[in-house]
Amino acid sequence: MSSRRLKIIRKIGYTGNIFGLEFMCPGIRPLPGQFFQVRVDGGVDPFLNRPISIASYKRGRLLLVIKIVGRGTKMLSLKKQGEYLTLLGPFGRRFRPKKMRSLLIAGGIGVAPLHFLAEYFVKSNTHFDLLYGVSTSKDFIMRRDFLRMSDKSMFVAEKGYKKKDTVVSAMKKVRLDDYGAAYACGPKQMLIELQKLDVPIPVYALCEDFLGCGCGLCLGCAIMYRGEYKRICVDGPIFELGEIDFEV
Ligand SMILES: Cc1cc2nc3c(=O)[nH]c(=O)nc-3n(C[C@H](O)[C@H](O)[C@H](O)COP(=O)(O)OP(=O)(O)OC[C@H]3O[C@@H](n4cnc5c(N)ncnc54)[C@H](O)[C@@H]3O)c2cc1C
Ligand code: FES
Repeated sequence: MSSRRLKIIRKIGYTGNIFGLEFMCPGIRPLPGQFFQVRVDGGVDPFLNRPISIASYKRGRLLLVIKIVGRGTKMLSLKKQGEYLTLLGPFGRRFRPKKMRSLLIAGGIGVAPLHFLAEYFVKSNTHFDLLYGVSTSKDFIMRRDFLRMSDKSMFVAEKGYKKKDTVVSAMKKVRLDDYGAAYACGPKQMLIELQKLDVPIPVYALCEDFLGCGCGLCLGCAIMYRGEYKRICVDGPIFELGEIDFEV
């Protein structure tokens, strides 16, 4: 793990509350599913770093895509091109993509780490489709990228879109025999509902739950997995969905 002070070379406004920060960060080999701990630069408040997944890494350009949900992400959104941020990482175990036709299942900002996985699939010549759902159509981001990279992209929104649906109910209409594995990221409730579908293929989920220390010490991110406690920050954030016990 290392800490880097990196210059923001581009800031992208995707929607009113989702933005991207691009940094020049050559010489690292990040893998899909990994994340950085971003220091908010507000002194001791907020004290904890904010975990943000890698959304893209190409020719040394690192992209983080962030949704404003509270104080830390709001402060990050005020950063401007040319300013600096401290990033620690990359952390976490990566997705272990299988070389078989895959389905990416994204809910809301969960699409960001799946974008990096999609780049990986393109590089490794692995075919994949995307199912991507948001609350309102204004929340869609990176659609053009996915249309370019995937074989097929299915978009659904609960409001304001021609295909009104949730990711979970749209999943029920997908022919899963076409895929060897699925990779999901989205709100916890989406993962819980997906798990209940008990699909016949392995689903690997990226859990974006709360982190405390982010380095395995505080146990604040523990989840029950295969009958034992695992820490999202060091044992995850990727877990096989069917093996998570969300009730503990
Ligand atoms: C491994 C990992 C990867 C992540 N990747 C991304 C990413 O790529 N892009 C991104 O935008 N976010 C990502 N997140 C979530 C992000 O870290 C949190 O949204 C952020 O830390 C919130 O900080 P804050 O100070 O703005 O909010 P806080 O002030 O800490 O909280 C504000 C509100 O948001 C809710 N909240 C905070 N964190 C979470 C969370 N993790 N899940 C659900 N609700 C939360 C709280 O309940 C509270 O109501 C990731 C989280 C993890 C663990
Ligand atoms: S956040 Fe402290 S152990 Fe994971």
